[in-house]
Amino acid sequence: MGTTRMLILQKRQVLVFFVLMGLSQASIESLHYSVAEETEIGSFVADLAKDLGLGVEELSSREARIVSDDNKKHLHLNLLTGVMHLSERLDREELCGSTQPCVLPFQVVLENPLQFYRAELDVRDINDHSPTFLDKEISIKISESATIGTTYLIANAQDLDIGSNSLQDYSISPNSHFYVKIHNSSDGNIYPELVLDKALDHEEESELRLTLTALDGGSPPRSGTTSILIQVLDINDNAPEFAQSFYEAQVPEDTPIGTNIVVISAKDLDIGNHGKISYAFLHESENIRKTFEINPISGEINLRSLLDFELIQSYSVNIQATDGGGLSAKCTLLVKVLDINDNAPEVTISSITKIIPENASETLVALFSVRDQDSGDNGRIFCSIPDDLPFMLKPTFKNFFTLLSEKGLDRESRAEYNITITATDLGTPRLTTQHTITVQVSDVNDNAPAFTQTSYTLFVQENNSPALHIGTISATDSDSGSNAHITYSLLPTHDPKLALTSLISINADNGHLFGLRALDYEALQTFEFHVVATDQGSPALSSQALVRVLVLDANDNEPFVLYPLQNASAPCTELLPRAAEPGYLVTKVVAVDRDSGQNAWLSFQLLKATEPGLFSVWAHNGEVRTSRLLSERDAPKHRLVLLVKDNGDPPRSSSVTLHVLLVDGFSQPYLPLPEVAHDQVQDEDALTLYLVIALASVSSLFLLSVLLFVGVRLCRRARATSLGGCSVPEGHFPGHLVDVSGTGTLSQSYQYEVCLTAGTGTNEFKFLKPIIPSLQLQDTGSNLQEKENFRNSLGFNIH
Ligand SMILES: *[C@@H]1O[C@H](CO)[C@@H](O)[C@H](O)[C@H]1NC(C)=O
Ligand SMILES: *[C@@H]1O[C@H](CO)[C@@H](O)[C@H](O)[C@H]1NC(C)=O
Ligand SMILES: *[C@@H]1O[C@H](CO)[C@@H](O)[C@H](O)[C@H]1NC(C)=O
Ligand SMILES: *[C@@H]1O[C@H](CO)[C@@H](O)[C@H](O)[C@H]1NC(C)=O
Repeated sequence: MGTTRMLILQKRQVLVFFVLMGLSQASIESLHYSVAEETEIGSFVADLAKDLGLGVEELSSREARIVSDDNKKHLHLNLLTGVMHLSERLDREELCGSTQPCVLPFQVVLENPLQFYRAELDVRDINDHSPTFLDKEISIKISESATIGTTYLIANAQDLDIGSNSLQDYSISPNSHFYVKIHNSSDGNIYPELVLDKALDHEEESELRLTLTALDGGSPPRSGTTSILIQVLDINDNAPEFAQSFYEAQVPEDTPIGTNIVVISAKDLDIGNHGKISYAFLHESENIRKTFEINPISGEINLRSLLDFELIQSYSVNIQATDGGGLSAKCTLLVKVLDINDNAPEVTISSITKIIPENASETLVALFSVRDQDSGDNGRIFCSIPDDLPFMLKPTFKNFFTLLSEKGLDRESRAEYNITITATDLGTPRLTTQHTITVQVSDVNDNAPAFTQTSYTLFVQENNSPALHIGTISATDSDSGSNAHITYSLLPTHDPKLALTSLISINADNGHLFGLRALDYEALQTFEFHVVATDQGSPALSSQALVRVLVLDANDNEPFVLYPLQNASAPCTELLPRAAEPGYLVTKVVAVDRDSGQNAWLSFQLLKATEPGLFSVWAHNGEVRTSRLLSERDAPKHRLVLLVKDNGDPPRSSSVTLHVLLVDGFSQPYLPLPEVAHDQVQDEDALTLYLVIALASVSSLFLLSVLLFVGVRLCRRARATSLGGCSVPEGHFPGHLVDVSGTGTLSQSYQYEVCLTAGTGTNEFKFLKPIIPSLQLQDTGSNLQEKENFRNSLGFNIH
């Protein structure tokens, strides 16, 4: 894009530019036709179809038109026949005046692609005007002393035709005193002069009436007449004499009516009536008479009507001064009309393309012509369009311009251009004409749909109802119409295990995603797939986005008790020595929960007991301990019901039934003795029993202290390594809860247990060993990671 696209055009160019840029087949040769003026409307002028070598169908399908330079409709093109007719009666005198030859240029414009041919029509003159005299009667005063051979200028006739049809000859009616002589003027006109052939005598004949006939050269010739009245005067010695024989006046065309242009003066030496001078125009045309007026006495010449430089640039006025005695003198006044910039340039749009596709390369948008009726700088035109538009102007020929669009329009950044063509002339002041062309850029599918996010993460609560709306993805397309109409679809997944089409469906119109069936967090925690947005352009464009669905856990699994086994045919019974100290660990309930997070945080509570005050359950780890010393009065069999509850909302729970049998010593094997037998033994072996109890108490005390010692040493060492060791840290876990989520860090309960088991607690080994291998891991059908997680969580959940 240059800084300026201005191009100067000179009006009334003699040279014709044949700049035919972008106009593929425009012919260099121009077509030439000729027609006589005043030919009937509808007369045949030319067979354009034949002359252009185009078919009639092509002419009509390409909307052939005739555009004339002066924007008038002289000619009509019949699109059915391809023949060009006259659409009006042409008057050569009106069209061209005295200019010869009279040529009307025009263009034949074809659309799709835009193309034009130059042509011209020559209007031939016919003899349709007769010579006419402006005055019906011309009066001449001639002194009786006039010598033979004296010539007298008389008004000429005018004929608007040109060439041989113009005025050719004058003749005078037969008389004995005068004959007529033709004077060839330098301006090309012929003037009649009356020549005295025989002396006049005022006394004999004071008046003569003659008829002057003007003849043109047409065939047949036409003529016009005027009558001449000759008054024979008494003697007059001196003829008037002009101060200058030539006057010149320069008058701007906008001079108001009545303005004095010039004053001419002549002197006559005679006195009285013979020295009295009167001024009059001589041989004046009708134009001069309309435009100027002369004061017969003062010689002032004033404007009678407005001048127009565009019509007439100069007037040559002959002025005659006549004295009272009939003697006269002649002078010439040349009035030069000065051009004023009173005409703004005119812009005529011949052809226009209003819609351009955005991927078009350089395209012809408009063909237009400019003209200015002024001359010189007043008629020189600059043509420009705004610099910041992707359009350019190029001259074609003469005063024709083309407006071309540049490559690389983008409808998405601008869909409409208002291009203002400014034509300015160089006169003072400058006159400007603007013409605005609106061009629409039509859409091409050059933008793929764009997702609002590159990836979407959707959360779904497990056990959702089928056909649940789980989220919406959306894409936009900056094209328009069907190029921007987006449909959504799922991209088939590469994971053969993921039956995507049975899990998810998408609404093709609005991108709403639906879960097709209930999801199970325990089976499938997350999955990903791609969605595709496709527009409906041709060819269609599409883009993809990743959607990740995270299934949220719901509390849908009850805690599962691993120990003691609840389905065993023979219920497991814990043995408790009667000598146990308060806080003695009776057993530990181990449970897991397949949910995660809060839903898997378990707490234990004692629901029912045969002897309510005897046992207590540690809420966070499920340890069942004695809460006081046992006495003889305590019944030997106890049944405890524990509730294992998770922290879900709402919580779920399961109950555990424990059987505890009070025994008198460790070594004594458990025998489900009938109640009677037990009583007998008690009576008989009371002493033995007491001994055993004492021995057991001492050994268990010893064992306990060893255990405590080891435990304290371990704790110290552990604390020394700053790991917190065995002490249950008052961390972020709720006091009564245990984390079984399997997040990878050891839960507090586990650490605690390590300490206990390190002390060879028989109870711990008793259940830990046989239980772990018997755990059934349900194959969830999901990936290995999941299995691993599950295994981890089990490992850490054992209390
Ligand atoms: C005037 O011009 C005509 C034709 O142009 C010519 O025939 C004629 O002789 C000329 N007359 C004089 C007086 O020059
Ligand atoms: C413009 O796009 C249309 C539709 O995509 C295509 O048919 C035509 O060839 C393209 N034109 C250009 C010049 O690239
Ligand atoms: C173009 O001109 C029209 C009519 O004046 C106007 O409605 C439209 O908004 C203009 N467009 C631009 C892009 O300026
Ligand atoms: C009890 O349940 C566990 C775990 O489900 C199982 O391994 C065991 O075989 C079951 N025992 C009986 C007797 O049903």
